[in-house]
Amino acid sequence: MSGQPSPSQPSPPLRSARWFAKDDLRSFGHRSRLKGMGYDDADFMDRPVVALLNTWSDLNTCHSHFKTRAEEIKRGILQAGGFPVEVPVVSLGEMLMKPTTMLYRNLLAMEAEEVLRCHPIDSVVLMGGCDKTVPALIMGAISANLPFVFFPAGPMLKARWKDQTLGSGTDAWKFWAERCAGNLCDGEWKEIENCIARSAGTCMTMGTASTMACIAEALGVTLPNAGSIPAVLSEHSRLAVATGRRAVELATTQLRPLDFLSRESFVNAMITQLTLSGSTNAIVHMIAMAGRAGIQITLDDYDSISKRIPVLADLRPSGRFLMEDFYNAGGLAALLNQLRDTLHLDAKTVNGVTLGEQIAPAQVIDNEVIRDRDRAIWPTGGTYVLRGNLAPDGCVIKTVAADPKLHSHTGPALVFKSYADMKLRINDPALPVTPDTVLVLQTGGPIGAPGFPEWGMLPIPDKILKMGIRDMVRISDARMSGTSYGTCVLHVAPESYIGGPLGLVEDGDLISLDVEARTLQLLVDDATLANRKARWKKPEPRWSRGYLKLFAEHTTQANLGCDFDFLHGNTPDLEPEI
Ligand code: FES
Repeated sequence: MSGQPSPSQPSPPLRSARWFAKDDLRSFGHRSRLKGMGYDDADFMDRPVVALLNTWSDLNTCHSHFKTRAEEIKRGILQAGGFPVEVPVVSLGEMLMKPTTMLYRNLLAMEAEEVLRCHPIDSVVLMGGCDKTVPALIMGAISANLPFVFFPAGPMLKARWKDQTLGSGTDAWKFWAERCAGNLCDGEWKEIENCIARSAGTCMTMGTASTMACIAEALGVTLPNAGSIPAVLSEHSRLAVATGRRAVELATTQLRPLDFLSRESFVNAMITQLTLSGSTNAIVHMIAMAGRAGIQITLDDYDSISKRIPVLADLRPSGRFLMEDFYNAGGLAALLNQLRDTLHLDAKTVNGVTLGEQIAPAQVIDNEVIRDRDRAIWPTGGTYVLRGNLAPDGCVIKTVAADPKLHSHTGPALVFKSYADMKLRINDPALPVTPDTVLVLQTGGPIGAPGFPEWGMLPIPDKILKMGIRDMVRISDARMSGTSYGTCVLHVAPESYIGGPLGLVEDGDLISLDVEARTLQLLVDDATLANRKARWKKPEPRWSRGYLKLFAEHTTQANLGCDFDFLHGNTPDLEPEI
């Protein structure tokens, strides 16, 4: 790897030397207690201390291989002359946490930042993968401004059922709809349950985890090609060892995130998300990550980039293939090589080369999975930002995953006041719903839900499924899983719970969605809306203490990244002195 100091260029002093090198009582304590653990001077004196922030947990189904990978990363650190220290941090496993891991993304980000700041750490390997762990760790490491390299968990292997390939989330939703429509028996449903999660690793569709892993690669904070290597391949073990080695080099050169992450890096990452037709959740995370670097990314930035970037990856939920296919087809670097003229090729990476140099050798091996530009899956605009009187601060729709027949649609609203209300009534035989109805969910936003859960792909009512209909227009201030699909308008801001116009919608109001015009309008006259607004009452605060109170008081809206307002900006706090 390049990026190491030349022989004539002495390395900067190690940060950990402030703990270990002094001849004072405090440093004596640091050294003697490490010796009490069985280490001696040769282990940690004058060696870079490289931390592994490990989000392993028995309750995180996607990180079950992280104990093994941690040992492999440590092997690389030792080979390169570093001192590995493994530090567990809170794990955010999507499958077992309620109401949503998004409630805790900022908690992990804060923990990562503070753990890095207060310990004798020279550089860090961030071990994440399951959705929120990726942005949270990166946000924290940027704020701590310590050299870091991100190690993605990698996607699980493709699943098989009968003669079909199954993708995480996407095919669960699809077959659940068939079950609700009476087309799948209990035995078949159990068979799918038994086989859809085939190995360790993250969801193997282009869901949030894979989107964020590829974004990390495009940002230049992973080793080359790290974004798509399946979790259980030997390549993934080798990636772990190489990541450990590189982290030692980063400690030596002291390449810090604020030294190389630029607006151009984040533009590259946005292009990556859009050409992958990646998860809409990544929009929120990208705004938050950039914010930690003091870089402002707006929904308008997304929209203007979306207008010129084609969708080239044919991956579920909007396409056909899975992450294993994507990796075998050449991975992200091969895809980005198709878009060189749109990228900032000079953006720096943790690998000591520019992004342009990093992706240059990659070639597309299967151009069904990674399309040429003249055979794009979607010419431009795979994800749009919409505005209108229903979403003055914006909302998003994944156009490429929505039924084109619904891209322009006007229909009467059917309003659910909350998720509980929706669960109670959605399959009521008396529900006044037709295929033209626009399903509206209120109280699904960052503060109202709370935590901005993935409720945005509202289920199609059973009686509509039985008509053979599989998509309807759905609008909410919630998010949806990156593995989801359908005509779902998401992230409506400001959210209903804090007085946003979505909270003023009533049953029967006409709503007009026009994707090409990028508008979302509530067709109710201004006087009526003003009347409803005057009657709206701000809810009483629901949380009097603890993390939920902090979250409710300081989380920003979706268009601002849902970070805590007091964590924006790129002025790292003072290093601990004593
Ligand atoms: Fe962990 Fe999907 S549940 S990545």
